[in-house]
Amino acid sequence: MLVLGIESSCDETGVALYDTERGLLAHQLHTQMAMHAEYGGVVPELASRDHIRRLVPLTEGCLREAGADYADIDAVAFTQGPGLGGALLAGSSYANALAFALGKPVIPVHHLEGHLLSPLLAEDKPDFPFVALLVSGGHTQFMAVRGMGDYTLLGESVDDAVGEAFDKTAKLLGLPYPGGAKLSELAKLGRPEAFVFPRPMLHSHDLQMSFSGLKTAVLTAVEKVRAEHGGEVPDDVRNDICRAFQDAVVDVLTAKSKQALLQTGFRTLVVAGGVGANWKLRDTFSRLSVAVPPAGGRGKPVEEAVNVYFPPMEYCTDNGAMIAFAGAMRLQDAQTAAAFGVKPRWPLSDIVKA
Ligand code: KG4
Ligand code: ZN
Repeated sequence: MLVLGIESSCDETGVALYDTERGLLAHQLHTQMAMHAEYGGVVPELASRDHIRRLVPLTEGCLREAGADYADIDAVAFTQGPGLGGALLAGSSYANALAFALGKPVIPVHHLEGHLLSPLLAEDKPDFPFVALLVSGGHTQFMAVRGMGDYTLLGESVDDAVGEAFDKTAKLLGLPYPGGAKLSELAKLGRPEAFVFPRPMLHSHDLQMSFSGLKTAVLTAVEKVRAEHGGEVPDDVRNDICRAFQDAVVDVLTAKSKQALLQTGFRTLVVAGGVGANWKLRDTFSRLSVAVPPAGGRGKPVEEAVNVYFPPMEYCTDNGAMIAFAGAMRLQDAQTAAAFGVKPRWPLSDIVKA
């Protein structure tokens, strides 16, 4: 079965072809980053209009890349939500119109399900069950994943998402939008502990997180540096701040991930979403283990290894491949339900198992 996947929830138009026998055959992406950069953030109306312009050429590009024709498509999967209403509608209208014209089913996909299944696109795939850490521009959540469609929310950020905190911090350091990736590159040049920022909710004994206070701590530090340096933030000090910010975020995510693994008893962690591209997170998680309290509560905790999976770098940020894949999995599971309506606000835990 050949599934065409359409992603248009925010500022990336992604199209891909996934074959249930042969795997991913083609995927193409257009990022609107440059278009939104001059406004310092995504302009929803511009995003919707650009998706409309890109969908047909990207689909034809994928068909050429896969050596396939429209008639070969067995189903059309699209991101139904969550995301920007107008941007979602562009993808939904296109997917529904194309599926109708081809006489094929349409498969609505939850954007976060796409992200959390994206590590399954790699050669070395995780087995169920696993803990998924979703870290994107809009969400920071821990999910217990027991199988396709079987997701339980374990905890989430009570305010800013991690990617959002990266982008806002980058902005206040004067880095161009979206600054998350740039901030993490500059963090490589920073000195350890030149600044130390708080680790919010580190000891909250649950899987809730908070990142907006961290951003405020950076703002306070930046104002102090500016006052001391004639209104400027020298490059080396900026790099130190980037490093301290990233270290604080990674510390919190590491501690909470360990807690999620202990709480569920799972020993597989899957990291998905744009912040999964972060080098420091990948590096720290490559050595992740959990300290399991000894039976009966006496003696030393036993360190147990954890298998950590990241999606291939190109599938970390928004893309059509993860939507085509999630659609194909749902098709195989006969979990298809044609729906034309979009769901701009749609918690992943509301998804129902067929
Ligand atoms: O998953 P994604 O592409 O879009 C959403 O669904 O939100 O995630 C985008 C987010 C942005 O906030 C971006 O700054 C962040 O992922 N991001 C990074 C890195 N690359 C992308 N954050 C930290 N380090 C990176 N290397
Ligand atoms: Zn996303």
